[in-house]
Amino acid sequence: MLGLLRHRARIIDADSRLQTHQQSALTYIPTASPDLIATHFFLDCLTQPQLDDLARRLSETMAPNGLWLISDFRIPPGAMAFPAQILVRVGYLSFRLLTGLRVAHLPDHASALTRAGLIRIAHHYSLFGMLTTELWRRPPIAATEVNE
Ligand SMILES: C[S@@+](CC[C@H](N)C(=O)[O-])C[C@H]1O[C@@H](n2cnc3c(N)ncnc32)[C@H](O)[C@@H]1O
Repeated sequence: MLGLLRHRARIIDADSRLQTHQQSALTYIPTASPDLIATHFFLDCLTQPQLDDLARRLSETMAPNGLWLISDFRIPPGAMAFPAQILVRVGYLSFRLLTGLRVAHLPDHASALTRAGLIRIAHHYSLFGMLTTELWRRPPIAATEVNE
């Protein structure tokens, strides 16, 4: 995945501008305040406690007004709920067979990011609501926090 990323990023002079870190995100601590975090089809690899911890830890390092871009599977309400549940179950089963992933349920990223103090500012649903792309923002530091 990282090799693919470097290959795709070669048009932006990846060798000098892109740093990759091959380590678990669960223990990764950014060395600078990120302006943007992007997690595409990654949060679904985590259990709810892992995601809660990641959201809390990363949100603390984000710059004020920093953004977190997410793409992931989603169970929509209504008629598409059942097909989406089947799709997600089949997906998790194949991930388990192919990669040994033990997670079997979609974690609730919205509640994790909300508890971490982030605000969802945009979203777009696709594939009949079964996929979501969302943009979350860390609010600027509140005046009360500045005065403390
Ligand atoms: C479904 S892939 C998505 C990859 C990429 N974001 C994309 O959209 O093509 C999920 C990736 O998350 C990685 N992953 C799973 N758990 C991880 C962890 N704890 N820390 C870092 N990466 C992890 C897997 O190795 C895999 O490369």
